[in-house]
Amino acid sequence: YPIISTEELVPRVRLYRISAPRIAKKAAAGQFVIVRVGENGERIPLTIADWDAHEGSISIVFMEVGTTTTKLSRLQDGDAVVDIVGPLGNPTEIENFGTVCLMAGGFATATIMPIARAMKTAGNRVVTIVGARNKDLLFWRDRLSSVSDELIITTDDGSAGRKGVVTEPIKEMLERGEHIDRVIAIGPSIMMKFSALTTKPFGIKTIVSMNPIMIDGTGMCGCCRVSVNGQTRFACVDGPEFDAHAIDWDNFMARQRTYVEEEKRSLEICRC
Ligand code: FES
Repeated sequence: YPIISTEELVPRVRLYRISAPRIAKKAAAGQFVIVRVGENGERIPLTIADWDAHEGSISIVFMEVGTTTTKLSRLQDGDAVVDIVGPLGNPTEIENFGTVCLMAGGFATATIMPIARAMKTAGNRVVTIVGARNKDLLFWRDRLSSVSDELIITTDDGSAGRKGVVTEPIKEMLERGEHIDRVIAIGPSIMMKFSALTTKPFGIKTIVSMNPIMIDGTGMCGCCRVSVNGQTRFACVDGPEFDAHAIDWDNFMARQRTYVEEEKRSLEICRC
């Protein structure tokens, strides 16, 4: 799968446009692909940030955090990845809900973008809230503005938008009695957990996109399991989106930490 173009969006976050015509033909907002960088590489899930059926390309955005994403970040225009499986997972439920609040933490801006576009096209009033540590980590503000009725930026240090965490604006909106029909929150687990805690007292349906470790992506290995309403569900085939208020967050976050030591060691010994 040849890489058509690469772009560094912000430090350590890269956008790749990859030739994958059959995936581009079928992709929908909320779906993902599983990428293997080399013959002996692990398989990592990455959200489809955009696609162009005419060109036959998909765009993925990833942050350089471990061995595989570091190897991926070394590739240049014209290089190729060994395989991409997709589109996987269920597309986001898109309909005219009324007012939809989309929350993105960190580089999940890329994941939120196609959802915002689809929600806007479906006739929703779209309020998008993006949170980042500082202004240097923000990207696609213009793109998001073009598909949002309101775009709110928050940064931890106040260097752009309002100072504070991404959950504060929606908390204030709900406390003021503003009507919101649906919330979709995507980002680090801790951010999604606190988004769920924020909206729960107000009874607003809140959807999150889970990002567990995955292997096959087809519901067979059980690696991506998530406890939803006390039942085991697989993020790859039952998700990746679930009702945020039904997730056992402590269990999920503990599972995500399972291989932290191995991941550190892998990065130390990898020749990337
Ligand atoms: Fe194997 Fe989901 S990744 S069951």
